Amino acid sequence: MSSHADVKHLAMDEYTRAESAANVIRMQLSQKPHLGLPEIAVVLGSGLGSFADELADPIAIPYGSIPNFPRSTAIGHAGRMVIGKIGDLTVAAMQGRVHQYEGYSSREAAFPVRVLARLGVKSLVLTNAAGGINPLYGQGALVLLSDHINLQGTNPLNGPNDDRFGPRFPGMSEAYNPGFRRIAQAAARELGYELNEGVYAALSGPSYETPAEIRYLRTIGADLVGMSTVPEVIVARHMGVEVLAISCVTNMAAGLSDGEINHEEVLETGERVRGTFLALLTAILPRIAAEAK
Ligand code: HPA
Repeated sequence: MSSHADVKHLAMDEYTRAESAANVIRMQLSQKPHLGLPEIAVVLGSGLGSFADELADPIAIPYGSIPNFPRSTAIGHAGRMVIGKIGDLTVAAMQGRVHQYEGYSSREAAFPVRVLARLGVKSLVLTNAAGGINPLYGQGALVLLSDHINLQGTNPLNGPNDDRFGPRFPGMSEAYNPGFRRIAQAAARELGYELNEGVYAALSGPSYETPAEIRYLRTIGADLVGMSTVPEVIVARHMGVEVLAISCVTNMAAGLSDGEINHEEVLETGERVRGTFLALLTAILPRIAAEAK
């Protein structure tokens, strides 16, 4: 990109940047007109990206070819959007996201959600790898988020509000759609297990927590800890997009088990629950999309 284009890029407001990213995706999709536009999107967290390979008749769009899109640098994040079918439903799957610890602002980390909403996505399923604080959870458990605590020290809506996106002061009392959670619970039960629900505390990372920080998080009501998801939830709710979020407890949080937490363990656990996770997502996406209509 020339320096002239860079200046122009900086001058563009976020709405225009989201619209131009959405336009490039629409153009790619026009190569397969039968796909139509996605109604639902899923963001795949660390070690959970393989769901995108399940989509039929896919188009894969690398983040690098979508204007204004942030690039993921974390290991375990492929960095592309795959749009394809589950049955009759068109799904956009984001293989990888960016995080605050990569040097992005909360606003930048949530930009892909702006683009998905501009594409027409009405419901969003966010997934992540998280540390388990609630001792009832075991390693590998899938947990639905019922609420969150934002401890990232920032908010993606900081700065001037663009009323075309949503209101200045959006409510967060029901950020995690209760009907979607009931659908997920029912789907898990049909697959032979119960899903727990819990409160997710978002920290900036990238260092894992200390045992003292985990005791503090437990005291303030957190069941899970992670470094993502919350900016995306806030931006989705700002735009009226309905949210379901699922954590995979890839490790027990610091001080709750022996030894140091490491990213390899996080990826390995993601890999271990892969079958369960894929089956759950495949069962719930069509039902959630139907509920959102
Ligand atoms: N802490 C924060 N983020 C995480 C963890 C953790 O223990 N595991 C996976 N993501």
